[in-house]
Amino acid sequence: MSASFSSVDYDLRQQRLAQAIKIAQLEGMALNAGPSLTYLTGLHFHLSERPVLGLFSAGNPPVIVLPELETGKISNLAYQTSSFAYGEDPETWQTIMKEGIQAAGFSGRRIGIEPRVLRVLELDLLNSTGIDFTLVSGEAALAHLRMQKDEYEQARMQKAVDIAQNALDAILPEIKPGITERELAAKLVVALLNNGSDPQLPFSPIVASGPNSANPHAFPTDRQLIKGDLLIIDWGANEGGYFSDLTRTFAIGDPQQEMVEIAQIVLEANQAAHNIARPGVSAQEVDQAARAVIEAAGYGDYFTHRTGHGLGMEGHEAPYIRAGNPILLTPGMTFTIEPGIYLSGKGGVRIEDDVVITEEGLYSFSDLPRELKILGS
Ligand code: CO
Repeated sequence: MSASFSSVDYDLRQQRLAQAIKIAQLEGMALNAGPSLTYLTGLHFHLSERPVLGLFSAGNPPVIVLPELETGKISNLAYQTSSFAYGEDPETWQTIMKEGIQAAGFSGRRIGIEPRVLRVLELDLLNSTGIDFTLVSGEAALAHLRMQKDEYEQARMQKAVDIAQNALDAILPEIKPGITERELAAKLVVALLNNGSDPQLPFSPIVASGPNSANPHAFPTDRQLIKGDLLIIDWGANEGGYFSDLTRTFAIGDPQQEMVEIAQIVLEANQAAHNIARPGVSAQEVDQAARAVIEAAGYGDYFTHRTGHGLGMEGHEAPYIRAGNPILLTPGMTFTIEPGIYLSGKGGVRIEDDVVITEEGLYSFSDLPRELKILGS
């Protein structure tokens, strides 16, 4: 995975971070292991019992505080860092942390952190040194930085979508009455890996049939597919740390008329969102475009979630395509469009694409047929 990150200009990303920090009226950023630290440094650390922190501030090279056994990861970087490595005795960590904070020049400063990512382990260590600084949320600054994907990132996401689409195509012949949701999910995971996905999938595939398809976050069960079912498959691949997240809905044998109708409505809602999304349009307008179609058809109460979410190094990230989000779309933003209708006890339909805002409008990374396809009849 590290090889595929080698063409990224981390100096440039760190310069952009310095600007984002300034715009957010911060003076530094303290990040533990996670997508933002990887985005800025290319470094991958597992969250373990040993703390890792990246300390960023304008005018200083990134400071990495890390366990000695991880120092191999920073021995050959294309950009400058100051590293502070600690040994196995936790009693020594505070002293090393203090040296790191001094090198980053954090004293007396306003420092951004990621509230959803930073653990109490790292927070306590940051606060343990007696050096005075203020920690506030740096989430908006980091979202601003990461929301617009460059060409390299968009290419990774296109590949992640291609892998996912090929994997689904590979298992289509298996979708027929008698197979269980769990068996299909297992085949899909194997197909994702066989088609080139990195092993850490963005999420376990959702395979939900019949009444289970009315639950947007269903887990695969031992239920066997039967004729008349709707079948929702929601799956994604990982290409070099970038994710895809797709959903298609199928019918097993001939579906009931109402299921055909809701599939058509969701398809039109998906298309309405595609048609309106372009630079200068807000996230809430995209949500509204999809929602209006479903409401006009009388199913507004059955579209129970937002129209989409940002996608990239995280399965869910900014921008969130929901009512009340005024953020304006700009070229390079990548997100999902995934309207749905869920009829309790009967079935559900969701059609999810991964898209990117371009200079002219919108491009859909995904192009699998969206119409309700009848399988296994
Ligand atoms: Co999604």
